[in-house]
Amino acid sequence: MTPRPRTLVTGAAGFLGSHLCEALLSAGHEVVGYDNLSTGRLANIGAPLRAPLFRFVEADVLDSPRMVEALADCDLVFHLAAHADVRRNPEHPALVFEQNAHATLALLESMRKSGIRRIAFASTGSVYGENPIIPTPENVPFPIQTSIYAAAKLASEGLLSAYAEAFGFQVFIVRLVSLLGPRYSHGHVADFLAQLSLHPDHLEILGDGRQRKAYLDARDAAQALLLAAQRCRQRVNVLNAGSRCLTVERSARLIAARLGAEPRLRYKGGRRGWPGDVPDIRLDCRRLRKLGWKPRHSVISSLEQTVDYLLEEKNSRTAEITRAACESVNAG
Ligand SMILES: NC(=O)c1ccc[n+]([C@@H]2O[C@H](COP(=O)([O-])OP(=O)(O)OC[C@H]3O[C@@H](n4cnc5c(N)ncnc54)[C@H](O)[C@@H]3O)[C@@H](O)[C@H]2O)c1
Repeated sequence: MTPRPRTLVTGAAGFLGSHLCEALLSAGHEVVGYDNLSTGRLANIGAPLRAPLFRFVEADVLDSPRMVEALADCDLVFHLAAHADVRRNPEHPALVFEQNAHATLALLESMRKSGIRRIAFASTGSVYGENPIIPTPENVPFPIQTSIYAAAKLASEGLLSAYAEAFGFQVFIVRLVSLLGPRYSHGHVADFLAQLSLHPDHLEILGDGRQRKAYLDARDAAQALLLAAQRCRQRVNVLNAGSRCLTVERSARLIAARLGAEPRLRYKGGRRGWPGDVPDIRLDCRRLRKLGWKPRHSVISSLEQTVDYLLEEKNSRTAEITRAACESVNAG
């Protein structure tokens, strides 16, 4: 009988990490979820926390002694922990680099000390910058980097392949497009929803609305990471993962329609919404599809589920705040 794989997931309590933990448990892995809960939430991993094969460690990836302890008996790591709110990244370059590149180096060192040499990494399609080749395959020449976030992710990719060369690691780098789906935590859907709940009659859009963005459901992204680690045979494996694309304008109209709103759209102008925004991002995913991967969630239904999830969250948080306020009035 083959032994049960024992796998550590960094960023386990985050949006993508929580779906990956569920996918790994379903695939029969024993899972150590590792997260410092900076943006992640225990509520995201309610189901894994009840599973006998799941253990949660609240700690930072940069805390090497804790990481080495958590890695005991693991044979595979999925590295998802990151400072992942791309739009707010330019304000804190040093923090972004620490969380997205130094943390990767710290993890690789902890793995080396522990004798673990297989790692899958959630990278980003933003590493292609404003590439003239669309859809973009994995082997294009890289243009100039346009965001600190992508530059730090690319530094991590470099470290992973260097560890493969120097120390015999096997690495699975999956370059993801923007993710959608339940437990969505940051990005344009949350921003549009916040605006529309304040003023349903108009919506301000960064850029000219014609930016074309490929999306992917986080559950399909989790399967892409899992499949890459199960089926890739090279020492360094790089795979794109994305699905269909929407313009920002179409996405805004779909979000508004889900809310039953008909806002006037006001554009801030310019091809890019913010520094580092890539106006056209579509990836060639044939490499991953050849492994048997196929997204199961359509972009539109995934966008609708994102809106529904955020609305539910908003309602339950409002209820929580109201309940807390009533309790404090009663106590007073
Ligand atoms: N969401 C997207 O659209 C998207 C697109 C492409 C790539 N990615 C990548 O996927 C990964 C997951 O993104 P997400 O959207 O789930 O983000 P998220 O913020 O929901 O999850 C990140 C998790 O990492 C944890 N974390 C952060 N720094 C940590 C540290 N130093 N030590 C321990 N835990 C730490 C956070 O608490 C959080 O739970 C990231 O690497 C991100 O760059 C995400």
